[in-house]
Amino acid sequence: MPGFEIFSKEEKKEVEDVLETGVLFRYGFDQARQGHWKAKSFEEELAQRLGAGYGHLCSSGTAALSIALAACGVGAGDEVIVPPFTFVATIEAVLNAGAVPVFAEIDETLCLDPEGIEPAITSRTRAVLPVHMCGSMARIEEIKQLCDEKGLILIEDACQAVGATFNGKALGTFGHMGCFSFDPVKTITCGEGGAIITNDRELYMSADAYADHGHDHIGNDRGLEGHAILGTNFRISELNAAVGLAQLRKLDAILEKQRSHKKTIKDALSGISEVSFREIPDKSGDSATFLSFFLPDEARARKVAEGFGQAGVDGCFYWYDNNWHYIRQWNHIKNLKSAAKLPAKLLENCPEYNRLELPKSDAIMSKTISMLIKLSWTEGEISQRIEKIMGVFTQ
Ligand SMILES: Cc1ncc(COP(=O)(O)O)c(C=O)c1O
Repeated sequence: MPGFEIFSKEEKKEVEDVLETGVLFRYGFDQARQGHWKAKSFEEELAQRLGAGYGHLCSSGTAALSIALAACGVGAGDEVIVPPFTFVATIEAVLNAGAVPVFAEIDETLCLDPEGIEPAITSRTRAVLPVHMCGSMARIEEIKQLCDEKGLILIEDACQAVGATFNGKALGTFGHMGCFSFDPVKTITCGEGGAIITNDRELYMSADAYADHGHDHIGNDRGLEGHAILGTNFRISELNAAVGLAQLRKLDAILEKQRSHKKTIKDALSGISEVSFREIPDKSGDSATFLSFFLPDEARARKVAEGFGQAGVDGCFYWYDNNWHYIRQWNHIKNLKSAAKLPAKLLENCPEYNRLELPKSDAIMSKTISMLIKLSWTEGEISQRIEKIMGVFTQ
């Protein structure tokens, strides 16, 4: 997830524009800002790049998920179907909306299994929230078809998959809304930032208002703007937006390099009989931020992951033990530990997560290793890396 690896004069120039005007706020100050609208420009360019009608840039990917849930009307009493392999932010956003996360199985795409969704649907299900993990895609068309048939809202967490596509269509554009993260370790970064995209003007208007205290952003006097709905502050600053704008313009170059580096390493691993690869429904649409693969079983996966650590193959993740990305270690979520009391109704509606069993997801995650793909690797470094990787398999 390498945007930070390639900061250069373009990012500096965009940030300088902002500092020279002194306007760090994304709205208003029309004269003082001398034509520099970094957040607004980012939104227009992101929507255009991804083929969406509208985009809204906000303070984080977590904020983007909360905005999407609010704008789509998902809240108290609703159930949202989520995968157990994601970053905890997906689950936090659902709980913070007052809705109940209902976990369904993943498949070998490492994302929600369309066949796992149907049994998780109840009369309270309002939305499905697939997460396009590690730069690649869920079986999104099948999931969309199911949501359409059942009348469910589809929100895509594409926080880790900006620029990835399925059959030529950007991830994030299949559902009612798509969410992205531009935090410090994402494919492109704002430092901290996130965005929603949508083709629905009304959803966009709600999102735009919700993220800024309900402001309707009509007219040029902020004090006189209307407030159609309650909102909050999920605004991004112009400084963060400026960094992101320069990064967004590098997205295609980043994807090209990632794909080439990933291919070289994948080709090398293809010769190892005990290794099989994560299923990618449309290989040409993979954003290639990670190379994920399966070992025959948990014991072998643990041994190989340990071997990578000892051999100095950096950026490798054995998610099954990871505290952030797989449900197995999320004791705070399983026990609904919160800083303040959660609404009584929400507690009543949540299932006993501690008793939840996801055997298919466990079987997949316990044999999975993912390797980060970096932009800055030289050909020599990639060759050395492959040599170290091969050494681990032949030990
Ligand atoms: C799948 C997923 N969803 C949501 C988020 C939250 O994004 P942010 O860190 O910008 O809040 C992340 C960040 O890692 C993520 O990986």
